[in-house]
Amino acid sequence: MSLTRKRILITGGAGFLGSHLCEKLIAAGHDVLCVDNYFTGRKDNIAALLDNPNFEALRHDVCFPLYVEVDEIYNLACPASPVHYQFDPVQTTKTSVSGAINMLGLAKRVKAKVFQASTSEIYGDPTVHPQTEDYRGNVNTIGPRACYDEGKRCAETLFFDYWRQHRTRIKVVRIFNTYGPRMHPNDGRVVSNFIVQALKGEDITVYGDGSQTRAFCYVDDLVEGFVRMMATPDEVTGPINLGNPVEIPVRELAERVIRHIGAKSKLVYKPLPVDDPLQRCPDISKARQILGWEPTVALDQGLARTIEYFDRLLRERGAD
Ligand SMILES: NC(=O)c1ccc[n+]([C@@H]2O[C@H](COP(=O)([O-])OP(=O)(O)OC[C@H]3O[C@@H](n4cnc5c(N)ncnc54)[C@H](O)[C@@H]3O)[C@@H](O)[C@H]2O)c1
Repeated sequence: MSLTRKRILITGGAGFLGSHLCEKLIAAGHDVLCVDNYFTGRKDNIAALLDNPNFEALRHDVCFPLYVEVDEIYNLACPASPVHYQFDPVQTTKTSVSGAINMLGLAKRVKAKVFQASTSEIYGDPTVHPQTEDYRGNVNTIGPRACYDEGKRCAETLFFDYWRQHRTRIKVVRIFNTYGPRMHPNDGRVVSNFIVQALKGEDITVYGDGSQTRAFCYVDDLVEGFVRMMATPDEVTGPINLGNPVEIPVRELAERVIRHIGAKSKLVYKPLPVDDPLQRCPDISKARQILGWEPTVALDQGLARTIEYFDRLLRERGAD
């Protein structure tokens, strides 16, 4: 094994972001162990890697301890969209909290670096705009999104306590809305929803009046940010925001999707879900300065690739 080839564990590796990260790290010549319980992840997402001798997949729930020898851990395991994390909210909090404890315990034992996929949801419905890392958030602790938001907040606390108490090398990033191929087609997220509805020729559901804004980062840009973060010196712990700072109103996103697909869909408006943030946009000054990172893929380019993926997926399912 060469000196630069590492043994890397990715929890949630069969999910949307995790599978892209597995591919990137395999392509860089590393040995990758993908751990997943396949709650929202799919074997199809990693099928192309299974023949690679440097890749291994293990069915495991991160709520239970794992004993493996690795150099780096990317902890991504956790359902990420409201429909999935609200399906079994107790399990969602357990996944974030027990999962963090187990991965930090493993990192401490084997002296690995450990990365946490935190989220912009820790800012809740923000009162500060755009969100910088020192903003402490506005989260409803007893609302339907709390199982996810508070679970992720507690995971951050655990990461920083392991750093202070045990000097475990931690890397925490806060991910903002990301999209791309391998998003779950039924996860209710705005990009996948709009594309799937338009491809099926259905009307597009917009919650609220569509003036609420979101900023979307393409998946390839995001995983590049992950790898850069992992490579930083030990004193860089984060948290660091990763996302696209260019905001667009949700209504405009729907219109762009319709234009790309050439669909005849109309926009239909429904009430906003409880605690849905009206605005969410990262301040990425830290990522720029510390990681030399910023998004490079334009929204139209990323949408075209994502539409192509969903088009193929829907055709395959139709053919089945
Ligand atoms: N995609 C985004 O826009 C976004 C934004 C913010 C944060 N994140 C975070 O990034 C990570 C990956 O998100 P994603 O979009 O790829 O979601 P995803 O649902 O596609 O991936 C999550 C993966 O974790 C697995 N998983 C869930 N519970 C598990 C458990 N108990 N044990 C083992 N595996 C488990 C799922 O099966 C899935 O493969 C999550 O932690 C999420 O909170 C994502």
